Amino acid sequence: MNELVYEEADYGPLACLIGAWKGDSGEDLAPEPDGDEHNPYFETLVFEAAGDATNAEEQELAVVRYHQVVSRKTTGKVFHDQVGYWLWEAATGTVIQTLTIPRAVTLLAGGHAITQGNRTILRVRAKEGSTEWGIVQSPFMREKARTLEFRHELTVEGDKLSYDETTVLDIYGKPRYLHTDQNTLKRQ
Ligand code: HEM
Repeated sequence: MNELVYEEADYGPLACLIGAWKGDSGEDLAPEPDGDEHNPYFETLVFEAAGDATNAEEQELAVVRYHQVVSRKTTGKVFHDQVGYWLWEAATGTVIQTLTIPRAVTLLAGGHAITQGNRTILRVRAKEGSTEWGIVQSPFMREKARTLEFRHELTVEGDKLSYDETTVLDIYGKPRYLHTDQNTLKRQ
C-alpha cells in the first residue's frame, strides 16, 4: 500500500499533541446504581497529524486524529475506547474536539487554547441541546444514561500530557452525576 501523504498544515497549539503517549496513573469515577465505581487505569493515546480541511472554500481547519484506549488496572482489560479529531482554526483561535465512544454517544466540544511559556492548555466543552457545541446519543442512552455536558482540559508541557475531564450524566435517578477521568502521560 502507498504511504499516506497529507497536506502541510499549521497545527498551531495542537502540534504539541502529535505522537504516542502512555500513562498509568489514571483515575476514573463512574456511576453505579448504588453509588460510584472507582477505577484506576492505564492507557495509550495516539495523535496523528492528518493535514487540513477547507469548508465552504473559506474555513481552514488543521486536523489531528486520535485514538484513546483505556484499561482497568485490576483486570488488565480494555474498558474505554475513544476516537475523534482535534481541530484548530487559526483564523478565529478556535479549538474543537470531536469524540465518539462505542456506547452510541458522540459530541463536538469547542473552546480555545492558552499558551503559558512552554505549556499549552486546551479547554473545550459541549452541552446537550447546544446548537454550537452539542452532544448526540442513541434513544436508549438519552432515556437511560443521558450525557448532559462534557468539559475537558488537556495540558501539554514538553513530553508530559495531563488531562482532566468531566462528563455530566443523568443516570440511575441521579440527575447530574459527575463522571470524571484524569491521567498524566509521557510521550513515547
Ligand atoms: C478515560 C475515560 C473514561 C473512562 C475510563 C470511562 C469509564 C466508564 C465506566 C467504568 C463506566 C461505568 C460502566 C458500567 O457501569 O458498566 C462509564 C459509564 C459511562 N460513561 Fe464513561 N468513561 C470515560 C469517559 C467517558 C466519556 C468521555 C463519555 C462521554 C462523553 C463517557 C460516557 C459514559 C456514559 C454515558 C456512561 C453511562 C453508561 C453506564 O454506566 O451504563 N465516558 N464510563
